Amino acid sequence: MPRSLPNIVVTGTPGVGKTSHCEEIARATGLEHVAINRIVREHECHEGWDDEMQSWIVDEDKLLDALEPLADRGGILLDWHACDLFPKRWVDLVVVLRCDSSVLYDRMAARGYAEAKLQENLDAEIMEVLLEEAREAYDEEIVVELRSDKVDDLDENVERVVAWTEAWKKDQARRANDEGLESEESEDSNAMEDHGVNGTADTNG
Ligand SMILES: Nc1ncnc2c1ncn2[C@@H]1O[C@H](COP(=O)(O)OP(=O)(O)OP(=O)(O)O)[C@@H](O)[C@H]1O
Ligand SMILES: [Mg+2]
Repeated sequence: MPRSLPNIVVTGTPGVGKTSHCEEIARATGLEHVAINRIVREHECHEGWDDEMQSWIVDEDKLLDALEPLADRGGILLDWHACDLFPKRWVDLVVVLRCDSSVLYDRMAARGYAEAKLQENLDAEIMEVLLEEAREAYDEEIVVELRSDKVDDLDENVERVVAWTEAWKKDQARRANDEGLESEESEDSNAMEDHGVNGTADTNG
């Protein structure tokens, strides 16, 4: 059963603005914001808490099981600082948010991040770790890199994703319609065969 709503991954280094973007996109499109952190906690898809990295040690199999019904239904915004765990067939668009390192440093410092985590995250942003991960895991044409340094960037990015979502929905509706017509046509030709219309030449010959 094809989905009538797209699934979008919003990813990037911690602090780039994934949650801020997802909240705005959800408001504007009606897509459901799925914060993976919350799912991991609520469904206990983890093997404990990593104190140094200040994050859950995620049990990916359990997480994917918890997400599958939502992904199959469609219309979700997956908000997580990793992306290659999500199966390709789930994903219609991957937004990789990028942030200037000094801006990101300030954001993380404001959140009181431990030095170890702050440094590791900054290195990951500078090394484009998430962008590489996305490009390796998904088709090039569905991966977009967007800046998230300032509020204007956020507004612009949200507008772009809203426009993309509308276009995707129209496209999908057209595809579903075309497929419907095709299957109607083949039903018609079956019906004609059933009624012997196509078989006249054979029976006469
Ligand atoms: N484009 C932006 N312009 C200005 N401030 C931003 C922008 N994006 C995010 N912020 C601010 O940066 C902080 C971190 O944003 P947010 O929580 O959305 O990041 P995140 O990627 O979800 O982080 P995490 O990976 O830790 O969940 C917030 O205070 C948010 O208001
Ligand atoms: Mg977040």
